[in-house]
Amino acid sequence: MIRKIAINTGGGDAPGLNAVIQAATMAAAKLGWEVYGIREGYSGVLDPANYSDGGLVRLTPESVRNISHLGGTILGTVNKGNPFKVTESLPGGMTVEKDRSEDVVAAFRQHELDALIAIGGDGSLTIANHFHQLGLRVVGVPKTIDNDLQSTVLTFGYNTAVSFATECIDRLHSTADAHRRVMVVEVMGRYAGWIALNAGIAGRADAILIPEIPYDIDKVANHLRERNRPYSIIVVAEGAKPAGGEVTVLAREAGRQERLGGVADRVAAQLQEMTGKESRAVILGHLLRGGSPVALDRILGLTFGASAVSALEKGLNGIMVALQPPRVEFVPLAEAVAKMKLVPLDGDGVTTARALDICLGD
Ligand code: F6P
Repeated sequence: MIRKIAINTGGGDAPGLNAVIQAATMAAAKLGWEVYGIREGYSGVLDPANYSDGGLVRLTPESVRNISHLGGTILGTVNKGNPFKVTESLPGGMTVEKDRSEDVVAAFRQHELDALIAIGGDGSLTIANHFHQLGLRVVGVPKTIDNDLQSTVLTFGYNTAVSFATECIDRLHSTADAHRRVMVVEVMGRYAGWIALNAGIAGRADAILIPEIPYDIDKVANHLRERNRPYSIIVVAEGAKPAGGEVTVLAREAGRQERLGGVADRVAAQLQEMTGKESRAVILGHLLRGGSPVALDRILGLTFGASAVSALEKGLNGIMVALQPPRVEFVPLAEAVAKMKLVPLDGDGVTTARALDICLGD
């Protein structure tokens, strides 16, 4: 029996988070459930005194009705917020790691929260799974602009990142051409090349360097020489590395993943030296995470949010919503034409429409 649920967002933000919050809240309210958003990952329940609203914010259909188009997350998020490993400072500058997971479980009991919808990437969902193992009822919603999560073919935020990166690359063509330069554009993506490859293809790059295929800078330089174009655009994923080399790390900080960044500077300097062409590095970085989600990410976020509630309603626990459509296949044309029929909206679309109360009818 569910009466009250909590929602939180953890890890780096991704456009579409607010759409998940909106649809989950509206779907839950239709079932008569109360919805509370936890501020900044689990911080709102771990350290409620730090928040003027007590760390838990009541979400209602009225309060979330108009947020699916907003970037960021109305709940706030943290990248260092693992309740199983909280770093605490001791007098004298020393730090210790404490497991405060029981405090989170106790807060759920105290506030009578019957379930958690945890929206996050691999780190946040691993934490959510640990809470499920401790007895909390949990449904996970996958999130990352990097699109690097197994079990779902698409995460929201990714298409917004690719679209914006493509627009930036489009813009670089004219300035690169005007100055006859090599422009090396670095995009986020962690250890995966999804954003780089697809933005690079869409943006008509001359070469794309991705983590999955360690690059050979001699080959890249030769490629530019052979093409002998007035200007060139190279897209490089932040996690790309040279064959036999390492990724470029910007910083290593306790309690969080290494921060990647700067490979574009290295590649631009090498290409300038090797080709004699003036080269510039452009690092798009967090610009890819900001801004309004594109339509597809709004819809995916809304669909995931509505589906998370429908999973809870069905009594599911310890699961993650995932998009698993079939891949591109080749079907005989005659067969396809013979079977061709007009297909109405599938079940997910109808679930979302019902959650948002947007198609007036039964
Ligand atoms: O995982 C999303 C992501 O944006 C990566 O592409 C990037 O490496 C990382 O987060 C950056 O994290 P932060 O904002 O903490 O520097």
